[in-house]
Amino acid sequence: MFDLLIRNATLPDGRRGVDIAVTGGRVAAVEPGIAAAAAEVIDAGGLLVTPPFVDPHFHMDATLSLGLPRMNVSGTLLEGIALWGELRPLLTREALVERAMRYCDLAVTQGLLAIRTHVDTSDPRLVTVEAMLEVQDRVRDYIDLQIVAFPQDGYFRAPDGEASFARALDMGANIVGGIPHFERTMDEGRLSVEALCRIAADRGLPVDMHCDETDDPLSRHVETLAAQTVRFGLQGRVAGSHLTSMHSMDNYYVSKLIPLMAEAGMHVIPNPLINIMLQGRHDTYPRRRGMTRVKELMAAGLNVAFGHDCVMDPWYSMGSGDMLEVGHMAIHVAQMAGIDEKARIFDALTVNSARAMGLEGYGIARGCKADLVLLQARDPVEALRLKPVRLAVVKAGRVIARTAPRIGQLSLPGRPGTVDGATYAPGG
Ligand code: FE2
Repeated sequence: MFDLLIRNATLPDGRRGVDIAVTGGRVAAVEPGIAAAAAEVIDAGGLLVTPPFVDPHFHMDATLSLGLPRMNVSGTLLEGIALWGELRPLLTREALVERAMRYCDLAVTQGLLAIRTHVDTSDPRLVTVEAMLEVQDRVRDYIDLQIVAFPQDGYFRAPDGEASFARALDMGANIVGGIPHFERTMDEGRLSVEALCRIAADRGLPVDMHCDETDDPLSRHVETLAAQTVRFGLQGRVAGSHLTSMHSMDNYYVSKLIPLMAEAGMHVIPNPLINIMLQGRHDTYPRRRGMTRVKELMAAGLNVAFGHDCVMDPWYSMGSGDMLEVGHMAIHVAQMAGIDEKARIFDALTVNSARAMGLEGYGIARGCKADLVLLQARDPVEALRLKPVRLAVVKAGRVIARTAPRIGQLSLPGRPGTVDGATYAPGG
């Protein structure tokens, strides 16, 4: 007797007509025609069942703060940072926790069950870190929440930035962040990368830096990050987030840089929604896209994972916790429209992100955690096209969210009575 049996699923790798049996919170079997009984049975009806969406780059201390204390009038990155500086002294632990908990509710309904959040350590009160540690504890049973200590105003540039950062790590933030391009000078940026990688090596922690989030092709802190990763033996534990300057770099320089990043086993975390919104702002026309070189980095064997970054905060007034919206934008901005390319974009929202976050037991195979999402779509490419409803979200074998299918009711003579987005295929 299984706890849960999902019948007739399509898996992200293309297998169809598969049953998934769950017992004790783990996947017990994945094969066609499982005969045993189960306490709960879900008929997937041939639709896609995927492991959960994973967001490897988010700002949960800022989410849902849009309009506080005022709107970002220019819509630029720099006004967003200034606006966050105005809001920061007004933040309370209670309000931060309340907004983050509401975002986590939304995330669960979107099948998003693992999130890495960068948490600002610039205000020595560290109310942001206190609040996110509380949220991490409160959502532990349904969202895997990782906390990056993030020196938003600069590790060297913020008053007491170094001391506040160290205290955040002592409190329990267990990933080392950074923002080298925001330090006062290129040289201080380089020194910050070195200092932060040394801290990670000494404390045995992973690294995930906002790195080169600029259109300046000479912003080359990613090179330093790769070199320091090798120097301190941190291969496989370091992520470069954003890396937007790579979009604008000289091709010859990039031809040396990418192998250096591969040697460091670096994870690459672009944020397509935010990159296309915030980069290229000093351009007239033609206007640069500002997303890093996804196709080329994937081709070189680097692990590329997409982040949502922001939802309704000082930097981005949109977003809905839907990682498929992130992937949809990535397809367009990276011009990855081929069938295989779209499948790789789906991986960048799921398996690649799980790898970047080092999640244990992720996937749909015997022994994996029974964390599963049933979508109203027939395959990953269709999911990216439709951004469909999550019909059921399963955590450790238990259904924790359901959403009714999206079916349009049609009132036209001689035409069908309903239109189901998931079965609206082209052709005759
Ligand atoms: Fe970010």
